Amino acid sequence: MWTDGAYWATGAKAEPDTKVVVAIVVATIVVVAGLLVSGYYMYKSRTKLIEKTESRREISQKTDDGNEELELPMFELSTIANATDNFSLHNKLGEGGFGPVYKGTLTDGKEIAVKRLSKISGQGLNEFKNEVILIAKLQHRNLVKLLGCCIQEEEKMLIYEFMPNKSLDFFIFDQKRSKLLDWSKRFNIICGVARGLLYLHQDSRLRIIHRDMKASNVLLDQEMNPKISDFGLARTFGGDQTEGNTNRVVGTYGYMAPEYASDGLFSVKSDVFSFGILLLEIVSGKKNRGFYHPDHDLNLIGQAWQLWKEGNPLELIDSFFGESCNLSEAVRCIHISLLCVQQHPEDRPTMSAVGLMLGSENTLPEPKSTWFLDGQEIT
Ligand SMILES: *[C@@H]1O[C@H](CO)[C@@H](O)[C@H](O)[C@H]1NC(C)=O
Ligand SMILES: *[C@@H]1O[C@H](CO)[C@@H](O)[C@H](O)[C@H]1NC(C)=O
Ligand SMILES: *[C@@H]1O[C@H](CO)[C@@H](O)[C@H](O)[C@H]1NC(C)=O
Ligand SMILES: *[C@@H]1O[C@H](CO)[C@@H](O)[C@H](O)[C@H]1NC(C)=O
Repeated sequence: MWTDGAYWATGAKAEPDTKVVVAIVVATIVVVAGLLVSGYYMYKSRTKLIEKTESRREISQKTDDGNEELELPMFELSTIANATDNFSLHNKLGEGGFGPVYKGTLTDGKEIAVKRLSKISGQGLNEFKNEVILIAKLQHRNLVKLLGCCIQEEEKMLIYEFMPNKSLDFFIFDQKRSKLLDWSKRFNIICGVARGLLYLHQDSRLRIIHRDMKASNVLLDQEMNPKISDFGLARTFGGDQTEGNTNRVVGTYGYMAPEYASDGLFSVKSDVFSFGILLLEIVSGKKNRGFYHPDHDLNLIGQAWQLWKEGNPLELIDSFFGESCNLSEAVRCIHISLLCVQQHPEDRPTMSAVGLMLGSENTLPEPKSTWFLDGQEIT
């Protein structure tokens, strides 16, 4: 019976059925073509995505206020090992406070600096990631940009943009190279460092105390603009206090504020102190030595104070400047630096006050503290 029916269905009423069949066939072709096209595009975007994430996984995290999301690229250890020739010695740029730094070149030709953190922190992985995400959020043209990190097999690494012109100490303390930095370039560097530090202290939503502000932590880009490096690491490794007392004094002898060096007390004012030393070094081209250097009756601060009191601040200025130097700016910088290195933290200006002083020609207060060196009072 049903075979007849089937026959009837396909044969007996051939006229209207052809239309139905044609309609079905056309509809099927359209649907199949549609599926093929969309499938193709899905396939394409998926391979793109795979290509994109092949060498770096992305981690992301909601920020505290929840309305902004930050993605921090995670680099694979193999990518970094390849970029740095397996961390070869000839790619080593130097040794920072938290471990060695290597230069690397990614397969796309982009140059990076890799800070390989020494295994000193007992910090958990998530804590570390959160800290790195916080550091990555600090973005300012006078801070070195963090590109991502790598956490794998006991290794913790931070990947930064590469700075072609090394660091400030490479220039100002070298007789030949210091000639490449004339006064206007140096003044530009001073103002840039002050802006970067001000951002860390109060303009960023985190309050970051650098704790190791020094010439070798001021990197220079291709136009010799300064970029502060190593910010936020002290916070990461020294606990998350923003001011207070620490058992682990990170910092560099010669730049440390007295209250930090002797009692571990740090605050934005201990950074201001270090900035003051840096300022003296930039103007004089001389390195400040420790507080009590046996070979020197007076260190750089002592010298600066004495010349200031004698009314001879010009003697401190790097002699090579010659005509290029704007003496009124240079003397003003020495004056500001003496305010920054006053012995009592409460006497020192904040970085925002320093910024105003650098940018104006108003009269400045006289530095008032006295300094004691080897028990000898310098007044
Ligand atoms: C890095 O990768 C490139 C291309 O993928 C390869 O030619 C090179 O040998 C690798 N280098 C190292 C040190 O693994
Ligand atoms: C890199 O170092 C690891 C371990 O030291 C070694 O197994 C590997 O072969 C090295 N790779 C290259 C490309 O040198
Ligand atoms: C700084 O770097 C740029 C680019 O690498 C270079 O052209 C320039 O000569 C460098 N400046 C100094 C003073 O070394
Ligand atoms: C020196 O610097 C001051 C303040 O920045 C400026 O007003 C003055 O024009 C400069 N003098 C020269 C000779 O460049």
